[in-house]
Amino acid sequence: MLLDQPLEIGKLAVKNRVKFGSHQTNLSKMRTPEEAWIAYYRSRIEGGAGIVVTEEASVDESDWPYERSPLAKNCTPAWSSLAKIAKANDCLLLVGIGHSGAEGSSAFSQLPMLAPSPIPDVASREVPKSLEEYEAKEILAAFESATQWAMDAGADGIELNLAYRSLIRSFLSPLTNQRPDRYGTDRTLFAFEVISRVRSGLKGGRLALRVSLDELAPWGGLGPDDLIPTVVELAAQCDLVTVGVGSGFTRSAFRPDFHLREAFNNGLSKRLKEAAAGQFATYLQGSITQIAVAESICIDGDADGVEMTRALVADPNLVKKLKSNEAPISCTLCNQGCLVEESSNPAISCQLNPDSGHELDPIPKGFFEIRQRPRKPSENSVISIVGSGPAGLELASSLADAGFEIELFEKDQRLGGALRRISDGGVGGVWSRPLSYYLSRIENSRIRAYTSREVTPDEISHFAKRGPLFLATGSIGSARYSKVFGYRHWISTSDLLSGQLPPHQKKVYVLDNKGDHESAWAAETATGFADEVIVVTEDPSPYSRLHKTGDLMSAISRARALGIKFKTFTEMVAKDEAIEISNRFSPEKEQITSCLVIEVGARESRRLIEVTENGAQGITQGIFEIGDCFAPRTIQDAIREARCYSRALVEMVAT
Ligand SMILES: Cc1cc2nc3c(=O)[nH]c(=O)nc-3n(C[C@H](O)[C@H](O)[C@H](O)COP(=O)(O)O)c2cc1C
Ligand code: SF4
Repeated sequence: MLLDQPLEIGKLAVKNRVKFGSHQTNLSKMRTPEEAWIAYYRSRIEGGAGIVVTEEASVDESDWPYERSPLAKNCTPAWSSLAKIAKANDCLLLVGIGHSGAEGSSAFSQLPMLAPSPIPDVASREVPKSLEEYEAKEILAAFESATQWAMDAGADGIELNLAYRSLIRSFLSPLTNQRPDRYGTDRTLFAFEVISRVRSGLKGGRLALRVSLDELAPWGGLGPDDLIPTVVELAAQCDLVTVGVGSGFTRSAFRPDFHLREAFNNGLSKRLKEAAAGQFATYLQGSITQIAVAESICIDGDADGVEMTRALVADPNLVKKLKSNEAPISCTLCNQGCLVEESSNPAISCQLNPDSGHELDPIPKGFFEIRQRPRKPSENSVISIVGSGPAGLELASSLADAGFEIELFEKDQRLGGALRRISDGGVGGVWSRPLSYYLSRIENSRIRAYTSREVTPDEISHFAKRGPLFLATGSIGSARYSKVFGYRHWISTSDLLSGQLPPHQKKVYVLDNKGDHESAWAAETATGFADEVIVVTEDPSPYSRLHKTGDLMSAISRARALGIKFKTFTEMVAKDEAIEISNRFSPEKEQITSCLVIEVGARESRRLIEVTENGAQGITQGIFEIGDCFAPRTIQDAIREARCYSRALVEMVAT
C-alpha cells in the first residue's frame, strides 16, 4: 500500500503518508498542556501516524482564541515529552503555532482582538483593533521565540497556520486587509515576514504551512487562482503544505459533516501539487476517513500525503491496522463526540471511541460508585450478553479479545440492534460503518452469537448462575416522558428508523428535542411522505447543536431546498386529544388534532427485568443492565459503559 510507504521530498522524509492534523483538544489547563494532552498525542504517535502536528499554540498573550488553548511559552515540557515519544516511534513531530487575530476571541483575555484592519468579524460582529507597527513587530518576534522553544524542546519542525482562525491569512485577504501602509499595498508581506522569522528560529528543522486555497467568499475574497501562486511563493522554502478551503467567512469548510463527499478538496491539492513541481510536499486535508480513499489520493497523485485528523481521533491505531488488516473504528464525520466549541469546554472525544481524549481515565472516576461492580468471574464462567446493539457488541468483542467465553443473544434475525436500525433504516452511508466494524470484530472472535433468539425469564436466572449476565436490550420509541404524551398521531424517530414510513400526510410536525443530525434527518425524511414539514423547537434555532460545529448552515440550506419550515421558541404540549403549539414570546396558540408528530429522540428502556416505583424487582447480584436498557443514552455513552465493565472484569481476573 502506497499510503504506508515512506515519502521523501526535499528535506522531508517520513515513514508513511498519514498526518494527524492540528486541532482544538481542550485538554490543556490554564493554557498549559499536561498529562492528558500528552497521552492523547502519544497514542496517535504510537498508533503509527507518519506526521503528528500538535494543537496550535498561541505565540503570545495577545491571542487567546478559546479558554483551553495552549500558550507557546507554557508548552515546552509537553512538547519535549512528545518529541521523545515521536523519536522513539520514527514519527515526525511538528509543533503547531499561530495567532488567531480577529477570528479568535476577546472573552478570555479581555483584550482587543488584533487584525490588519478594523473590520468587524463576520461571525461575532466584533470590531478588532488594527495592528500597529510596534504590535506587528512584537508578534513577529513571538513567532520566532515560539519556534525556538519548540526546536529546543526537540520537535522536528513547525506548522504555521495560514488557514482557519489565522491572523496571517487575514493579512492576505482584501476582505480583511484594507491597510494604507506597506502591509496593505503588499498583502503578502506579513506572511513573508512571519515565515522568515520562523525560519530564523528553526535551526534546520522542517517548516510546514497549513493553507486555505479558497476563502469561499466569492463577493471579494481570494480564490484558488489568486492563492495558488501566492502559496507557491510563500512555500518556496518550506517542506510541506496542507491544503484546505474556507476562512472566517466559512469555518465549517474545515471539518464538514458527512453530507459532503470524502476528500472534497482533492481537485485543489492536485492543482497546488502540479504548481509546486516537487518543491515541497502537498498534503490533502478534509474528510478523509477511509483507507481506500486515502490510498487512491496517493496513487492518483492528488497529493503526496493525506491529513486524517478525525479518522485518527476515532482510531489512533488506524495506521498500525493497515499492516494487521484489522478493521479500524471508522469515523462517520458526525462531528458529535469531537465537538469541543461549547461553553462547557468538553475535552475532545469520539462518538465511536470514548477513550479518545480520555486515555488516562479508561474507567471514569466514580463509575462504580453508582453502578454495581461485577464479581470476579471463575475460570469456568460463561459471560452472557443479551442484546447486540452498540453496548452489547462492544462488551462482547472486548471481553472476547481478553479471552473470556462469551454467548451473545439477539432476538432479531441479524445482529446490530440500534446500529442495524441506523444503518438499514434509510440513513445508510457513513452510518453503516460502526455496524460493519463490530460485525468484523465478532466474526473474527470466538463469540457464540445467536440470532432470532429471545431469552426467557428462566434463562435469565440460569445465565446469571454461570457467570455475569449483561442485559443490553436497548430502547424503544416511547412518548412516556414526553410533553406530548397521550397524543395519538405520534411516532418517534426510532419508529421512522424501522424503515416503515407512514402513509402520505398533509402536514407533519417534527419535534426537535435534540438539535442534532437526527432532527435534520427526520425532517428531511418526512418530506418524502408529507406535503408540509414543520420543525418545532424550544431553542432559538432549529438543529441548535449543529451550529457549534458549523454544520448548521448546510443543514438549513438543505431544509430550505426541501421546503421545510421552522417554528423556533415554540413548545408542543398534549392537551386532551390535541396538542397545543405555543410560541414563548407571543400569545398566539394553535391546536392540532390529527397531524402526525415525529418526536426526535423519545425513547424508553426495553427492560427484561421489571422496575417498579419501589425499585428494581428481581435484579440480583451478577445481572447488569447496560446501554439504553439502563437508560437511553448516546452511542458514545453506551460504548463507554461497556468498556468500563469489560475493563473491570479484565482487571479482576488479572489480580
Ligand atoms: C474537534 C476539532 C477541532 C478543530 N480545531 C481546529 C483548530 O483549532 N484549528 C484548525 O486549523 N483546525 C481545526 N480543526 C480542523 C482539523 O485540523 C482538520 O482540518 C479537520 O478536522 C478536517 O480534517 P479531517 O476531515 O481529517 O478531520 C479541528 C477539527 C476538529 C475535529
Ligand atoms: S465524533 Fe464523529 S466526527 Fe468526531 S471523530 Fe468520532 S466519528 Fe469522527
